[in-house]
Amino acid sequence: MSNQRNLNNFLADDQLNKSQLLALIELAINIKKNPADYSQALAGKSVAMIFEKPSLRTHVSFDMGINKLGGHALYLGQQNGKLGERERVSDYAKNLSCFADAIVARVFSHDSIQGLAQHASVPVINALCDIYHPCQALADFVTLTEQFGDLSKVKLAYVGDGNNVSNSLMIMAAILGVDFTLVTPTGYEAEESIIEKTQALANESGAKLYITSDINNICAQDVIYTDTWVSMGDEDSNKKAALLAHFAPYQVNHQLMKDTDASIVMHCQPAHLEEEITTELFDSDMAVVFQQAENRMWAQNAVLVSLLKN
Ligand code: NVA
Repeated sequence: MSNQRNLNNFLADDQLNKSQLLALIELAINIKKNPADYSQALAGKSVAMIFEKPSLRTHVSFDMGINKLGGHALYLGQQNGKLGERERVSDYAKNLSCFADAIVARVFSHDSIQGLAQHASVPVINALCDIYHPCQALADFVTLTEQFGDLSKVKLAYVGDGNNVSNSLMIMAAILGVDFTLVTPTGYEAEESIIEKTQALANESGAKLYITSDINNICAQDVIYTDTWVSMGDEDSNKKAALLAHFAPYQVNHQLMKDTDASIVMHCQPAHLEEEITTELFDSDMAVVFQQAENRMWAQNAVLVSLLKN
């Protein structure tokens, strides 16, 4: 992965430094407070949105968000075949660059995102891949900023499957200097390379990073975050019962909130109620899940405005 520092694309969380991330968070909050000031920010611009996987929040928040900026969004599902099958990823990127001012892509493989970025002449935004979900993490830190003001005082724990959402969240936490605890069942930990990268970023920012498989080691937290135990593309109905049993101790529920003294629960959705989170907690005042969902739009609009400002 390149260590690019100019905001030419939005591909993976570690491509941004702390001041760039803080600027995006501030811009997202500003656009949210003053939408009329940005109503022409994307006037005359079109964004092509490639979706290899299902989506509710990402599709709607990009489409309606781009509309709020005066731009035009085009949804491309799988009617043209899978990326790289009917046409090479490079040709997809070059063709779309003829028409679009930016490309948003939700893909199975991070390689596709990198291929698009390498061959497109317009900015590419990662709308989820197998390794990262940077739009979600950015929206989540917008939400945490709204909740706490000063991010440096927040203690955030992610409990559940080590996946794209937890990777992006912990990398961004490390960059921003937020203390982060990752609790994943054995066999479902984050990749070693992601942990090493996050630890290096945490060493730089001074954030504490704690990783465990023992749910009893979670300590006091302000916020508990969880996501589905089975990500899109990883479904295997034969293994579901064993997986649910293995993950059961990691369910986020009122007892865990009480044990950790946490006051806020987060979930990127879609939620699998009574699996990774109880219905009671998801529906409670502790949950900020719809604030997170709304902030997807403002955070992505901040990314679009930053990428397309020239
Ligand atoms: N980890 C989940 C996130 C969905 C928004 C998935 O990749 O399916």
